[in-house]
Amino acid sequence: SITKTSIRSLLESTLPPPLKGLLKIAAQQAEARGWQLYLVGGAVRDLLLAQSQVHFREFDLVVDSGGTSDLQGAGGELARSIAEDFPEAQLQIYGEFQTAALIWHDESHLGPFSMDIATARSEFYPYPAANPEISVSSIRQDLYRRDFSINALAVRLTGHQNSPQQRGELLDFFGGVEDLEQKLIRVLHPNSFIEDPTRIFRAIRFASRLGFSLDEQTKIYLQTAIASGIYQQTEGNHHKAPALQSRLRNELKYIVQEVHWLRALALIQDLGAWCCIHPDLAMPPSSLRAIKMAARWLEALNPEPGDRRWPIILEVLLLQLPESARLKVAQKLQLPEGSQMRLGQFQALVQRCSDQLQGHPSPSRVVKTLRPYSPELIILGAVCVSVSVRAILWRYLQIWQHVQPMINGATLIEMGYRPGKKFRAMLDFILDATLDGQVSDPASAQQMVRQRFD
Ligand code: CTP
Repeated sequence: SITKTSIRSLLESTLPPPLKGLLKIAAQQAEARGWQLYLVGGAVRDLLLAQSQVHFREFDLVVDSGGTSDLQGAGGELARSIAEDFPEAQLQIYGEFQTAALIWHDESHLGPFSMDIATARSEFYPYPAANPEISVSSIRQDLYRRDFSINALAVRLTGHQNSPQQRGELLDFFGGVEDLEQKLIRVLHPNSFIEDPTRIFRAIRFASRLGFSLDEQTKIYLQTAIASGIYQQTEGNHHKAPALQSRLRNELKYIVQEVHWLRALALIQDLGAWCCIHPDLAMPPSSLRAIKMAARWLEALNPEPGDRRWPIILEVLLLQLPESARLKVAQKLQLPEGSQMRLGQFQALVQRCSDQLQGHPSPSRVVKTLRPYSPELIILGAVCVSVSVRAILWRYLQIWQHVQPMINGATLIEMGYRPGKKFRAMLDFILDATLDGQVSDPASAQQMVRQRFD
């Protein structure tokens, strides 16, 4: 079980030495200025959940200067001073949000790693930060603006002369530790999903990633937000809608990138949240089957599809909508250009398959039919065609698209032909013969070319 005092030893045992060193330097820099510094968010959650060493890629820090820093905010100043000890880190300062980031790229010994430093809101209401009574109210406010209790925990990294025991103290104002133990996703206030509708999908992502449930009351708030048409309401707002839709797209992307993504999609369905994307969207068993099939095909094509899987999965889901609606949703969500292209070409591919690939088409005919289309589009097509055409598409992707002509251009030159218009026709002719098994070795291929073209 998670005890409040164990966080110090967790920090000691779970963090790799370079990250411990980084936090120590950050804390020293804050202490030297009389500021309070906190580790917040996902890192604290993951530390408390850690069974063994965690691979951290990001720290979120909040600094509270009690209003004693300059206009750029304490976050910027602190980041700049930490950066002096880490010349390999890239420093970014966003004045308007009073936040800063230090980024270590792949090559550096910490990389890839980033550390965000936000400035606590109390910046605007000056008071002495070294006064622990008041300063707690400021980090409390900061944490209260966050999504779920398990993400609203903080560890105080700084200690001060009059209160050194505070260093390493866990701040749990909203019952986050209990929710970690109970495996619950719980919002901090009823309006959380209305204020930030992307939290609907974040709740689903964390629940499926961690194997947690939604707290019953939280589920009611979430479904009330969906029922209020929270996403549709903002659609008319040209100012707000694009940013909200692109954050929604990011959440969908992160969900599909999770290990337990199928579990997450099922939860979206159970909660009735697909309608946030389009009023008629859902995930009936047929869609789920199509999604699983597309995922299997993608994996067969490329065992590490990386960033390529999520758009295709969303495209498969959108196929249940009428063609014009698919494209509209793709644009609204700002799906990658490739997605919009595939959804645009999809109907033409399916038509072409049913025109050209009925019965037992020869491999060369299959290749001619499908060559204009990308493998990803063909996978999309595969979920909507007949079983027999699907088998043909599979063989095209697995075998026929990779077949090379038995002899190449260099051989044609050796044979005395000069590169030109006829060349292409010769190579296509050889490729067709190779695909259809009409030549078995380069010598017979040469003979066939002479017979046909001389
Ligand atoms: N946050 C929030 N509301 C959002 C997005 C983020 O309250 N819509 C807060 C949460 O407290 C979260 C922190 O900002 O912990 C950092 O956000 P992010 O990096 O997206 O979340 P992590 O919890 O770090 O998740 P991950 O493990 O996926 O990085």
